[in-house]
Amino acid sequence: MIDAKEANLRYHDAAARDYDAKWSISFDERCIEYVRERAERMLPRRRYGRVLEVGVGTGFFLLNLWQAGFVEEAHATDLSLGMLAACQANADRLGCPLRAAAGDAERLPYADGSFDLVVGHAFLHHLPDYAGALAELARVLRRGGALLIAGEPTRLGDRIAGVAKRAASAGMRLAERLRPGLLGPDPTPPATDQERTLRELEWHVDLHTFEPSELVRDADRAGVIDVRVETDELAAGVFGWAVRTIEAGARPGLLDERWAWFAYRNWRRLYRFDRNVLSRFVPKRAFYNLLLYGERPLTSTDGSHC
Ligand SMILES: C[S@@+](CC[C@H](N)C(=O)[O-])C[C@H]1O[C@@H](n2cnc3c(N)ncnc32)[C@H](O)[C@@H]1O
Repeated sequence: MIDAKEANLRYHDAAARDYDAKWSISFDERCIEYVRERAERMLPRRRYGRVLEVGVGTGFFLLNLWQAGFVEEAHATDLSLGMLAACQANADRLGCPLRAAAGDAERLPYADGSFDLVVGHAFLHHLPDYAGALAELARVLRRGGALLIAGEPTRLGDRIAGVAKRAASAGMRLAERLRPGLLGPDPTPPATDQERTLRELEWHVDLHTFEPSELVRDADRAGVIDVRVETDELAAGVFGWAVRTIEAGARPGLLDERWAWFAYRNWRRLYRFDRNVLSRFVPKRAFYNLLLYGERPLTSTDGSHC
């Protein structure tokens, strides 16, 4: 039995080098806009002093939030030193004076009340004790400070994404029979230690999906108040996962720049359709992506300020 935290550490160390390319992460207007849109939707303020991202990876959320003007002082932590090094390199390229420290989200290396805003993107579902980590995130917030979690998979949204991935795979196999040469070669044994680690651990790192109402309850128990959950990406999620499945299976060189623009433009259209139309009558739990906002209370439960 592989220890889940050890698996996460080794997997993300191995993933760090190619992570931005694999997930189309960039630090240009496309990704700044993605992050800004979510921050404007969830956060009551447009600027925060000391901001920490936990499970920062290569810096997608924090560095784009910084570029969007929400962050005065950027701090980053991650279990994986490989990810932190990639994040530091991205920050240096952007001219962002980042303070990075290796750390486990379940035992953060910061004093109580250190930050005005704590954010986390696509990391909570990797933590064995995610409920305990929520209490840690609250602990390092100053009183009245804000918590923003985004990019976490909902339980039902994840099942729907699974259907989209299987349908896209079946479509690819059918297309290959009609027009051979579309698919890439069958997988060969891993050529490097990095590839071996990624393949071995791929199924051991995603530990949770979330029911929105249960996560609200967990945040509440962690001492976070004024908790609000939103979700997005239903049609956009189905489309996005189908696109990723096709990109992973296609013959190298088959999909060019025009495909990338086709995928991005249509994903944006569907994202707006989800927000403006589907979100009016489809339950939150069916959308793929979960976002949570909350605050650390101004006074402790015994009524004292500190
Ligand atoms: C899916 S990546 C997301 C990275 C980044 N936030 C983003 O959105 O691109 C998950 C990140 O969580 C980190 N992680 C996993 N378990 C962790 C833990 N216990 N404490 C801190 N970080 C952890 C991984 O090393 C990885 O960088």
